[in-house]
Amino acid sequence: MPALAQKRPRPGDKGPATRDKLRKSLLKWYDREGRDLPWRLRQGRPDPYRVWLSEIMLQQTTVAAVAPYFTRFLERWPDVGALAAAPRDDVLGAWAGLGYYSRARNLHAAAQKMAVNGVPQSEAAWRELPGVGPYTAAAIAAISFDGATNVVDGNVERVIARLRAVDTPLPHAKRELRALAGELVTVDRPGDWAQALMDLGATVCTPRSPRCETCPWANDCAAYASGAPETYPRRAAKAERPRRYGAVFRIERDGELWLVRRPDKGLLGGMAALPTTEWRDKKWTRAEALKHAPVAGAWKKAGAVEHVFTHFALTLDVYKAEIAPPNDGWWGDVSALPTVFKKAAKAGEKRS
Ligand code: ADE
Repeated sequence: MPALAQKRPRPGDKGPATRDKLRKSLLKWYDREGRDLPWRLRQGRPDPYRVWLSEIMLQQTTVAAVAPYFTRFLERWPDVGALAAAPRDDVLGAWAGLGYYSRARNLHAAAQKMAVNGVPQSEAAWRELPGVGPYTAAAIAAISFDGATNVVDGNVERVIARLRAVDTPLPHAKRELRALAGELVTVDRPGDWAQALMDLGATVCTPRSPRCETCPWANDCAAYASGAPETYPRRAAKAERPRRYGAVFRIERDGELWLVRRPDKGLLGGMAALPTTEWRDKKWTRAEALKHAPVAGAWKKAGAVEHVFTHFALTLDVYKAEIAPPNDGWWGDVSALPTVFKKAAKAGEKRS
């Protein structure tokens, strides 16, 4: 007898809900409640370019933050050829504010590969492109050509950890959660299945206050039955984020700022920036910081700003002056700056 048939619940049986029952209720919910998102088509196959662009933008980033960027990118670069032909600095500038800037560098590099070799036709071929990891390749395969792949991101991990009340803490539980999620994937509507799970995680099975009363799986959910669904997934204790310190230099002329380009390698690589000291573990005194100013001059302290990156928190002292800049940079506005430098630019503005 197949394993599944043995597990089928009998009346009064509180055992695990079967795959088919879970699938049916979630897909029905998705047909009714799934979000209308700019990269989604409810009928027919979506364009792989749009799916790829949206999945790269959605890495570590919310749908609300991504939507306007996605729309702007598509207007400006409607297909992969247009994106490949764009100057890289234009792409980095259009990405400013979205964070995780290696994504923009990889996006442009991948577009150039696709312009030469064509758009990949398999999950494995997508994996070959810069910036496309296992999750993204699986998501593209499922959504743009209905590949029956197991698409597991943080939202899906949370949903599955709750459905099955997995007590192993993250990140150790990743493999177990992936296997449990995989038990629910079939060849039927894999793209919708992946997105239904994502939507459930984003709108119902949310991290802090899940809306279990509206959940199509409430009666099947082991964490709900436990009375404390929000305590799943369990997590290993996290180390505290270290803090770093730096100083930035804001030179203004006629409403424009003096900008420099960061080296390609490293954090915010290739992005436009305000000139800055190194970011280190120890605070900078004024005298130390000014030794690293792009030019000597009458620098005024204009406050400090805070920014949180994934691996550290940063305090930046802001110094400003209206003086002749050095050679290696250009006059520009804040729109092409990553958020940390936008904050610093603004701090200088307030006190003038
Ligand atoms: N998060 C990542 N990819 C997504 C998608 N296609 N729809 C909704 N949320 C997502």
